[in-house]
Amino acid sequence: MNGGMPGHVRDVTVPRTDTHARVAMAHDTGMPRPAGTLADLVRSLTDVLAAGGIDEPRREASDIVAALGYQPRFWSQVAPHTAVEDAFARQAHQAAFRRTAGEPFAYAVGRAAFRHLTLRVDSRVLIPRQETEQLVELVLEYLAGRNDAEVLDIGTGSGAIAIAVATEGRPRRVVATDVSADALAVARENVRSVSVRGLAAGVELRAGAVYAPVEGEVFDVIVSNPPYIAYQELADLPSSVRDWEPSAALSCGDGGLEVTRAILAGAPAHLRSGGLLALEVDERRARDVAELAAATAGLSNARVLLDLAGRERFMLATCA
Ligand SMILES: C[S@@+](CC[C@H](N)C(=O)[O-])C[C@H]1O[C@@H](n2cnc3c(N)ncnc32)[C@H](O)[C@@H]1O
Repeated sequence: MNGGMPGHVRDVTVPRTDTHARVAMAHDTGMPRPAGTLADLVRSLTDVLAAGGIDEPRREASDIVAALGYQPRFWSQVAPHTAVEDAFARQAHQAAFRRTAGEPFAYAVGRAAFRHLTLRVDSRVLIPRQETEQLVELVLEYLAGRNDAEVLDIGTGSGAIAIAVATEGRPRRVVATDVSADALAVARENVRSVSVRGLAAGVELRAGAVYAPVEGEVFDVIVSNPPYIAYQELADLPSSVRDWEPSAALSCGDGGLEVTRAILAGAPAHLRSGGLLALEVDERRARDVAELAAATAGLSNARVLLDLAGRERFMLATCA
């Protein structure tokens, strides 16, 4: 942005809840007046965040303006005298008030970083996680040197995996599915806003459970970060996750294995010979998933891989 005014600020819209209504009310009545410079704005946001009990309010204020301005993290430090539009200041204050109500940062600012992408996110989709960036890396390693691969992403949410694979791996085709029409609406926005250059068919978004939207089709890669928390484990999650992220994205039946089992069962019919199945898994059940894969006729070489923190978080298998 060359130190100028933020020119591509978008409206942050989330379904209204009581919390959001309270936030909006605070925003309407008690909001500090928009400041003239970025430094003034960060000071004002810091006051709001500190009063709301946010840890490290100044750092968070800097992060809010950087995220909303599509700028690097230290933008407010390196360009403190940048003039700020009122609309941007209002949006930043709204995000700060949402943070003080406990909303996750990514929802409050309406976007999340994922690999090289900045994705639109709101409460209809899971906030893409760092370990999922690693799942993408595993798929890209498989795709290296293959230019005509077809990839299926089951449970695409924001579209994070599908769009990252489509833009970084240059497969011929990526199909992304989700059982949630709300999630697909977010993915559609992200697919539209990210230029998927060089990809013949782009990312195709389809609604439906597991393999229902790809009846009779085969792929070189099936990748998924399915819901994998057992219902009874939801209570153990931090409230910032449990109370804000969509429960259908987090948890499922059969002790968190319902969707994973369905993906495993249908994989041989939807993978070409030599094709890759790559799943993100709960570390408590990674070996169970590998055993289930090994016991699935048509799948071989089931293996568990570690994330960067050394946890068993991925299960890969090959179609015989
Ligand atoms: C853990 S989120 C993953 C979202 C995204 N892929 C990511 O990694 O950030 C799981 C997604 O699977 C979807 N989902 C849940 N059950 C499903 C099913 N039976 N078939 C297809 N998608 C499902 C949810 O709506 C949610 O978007």
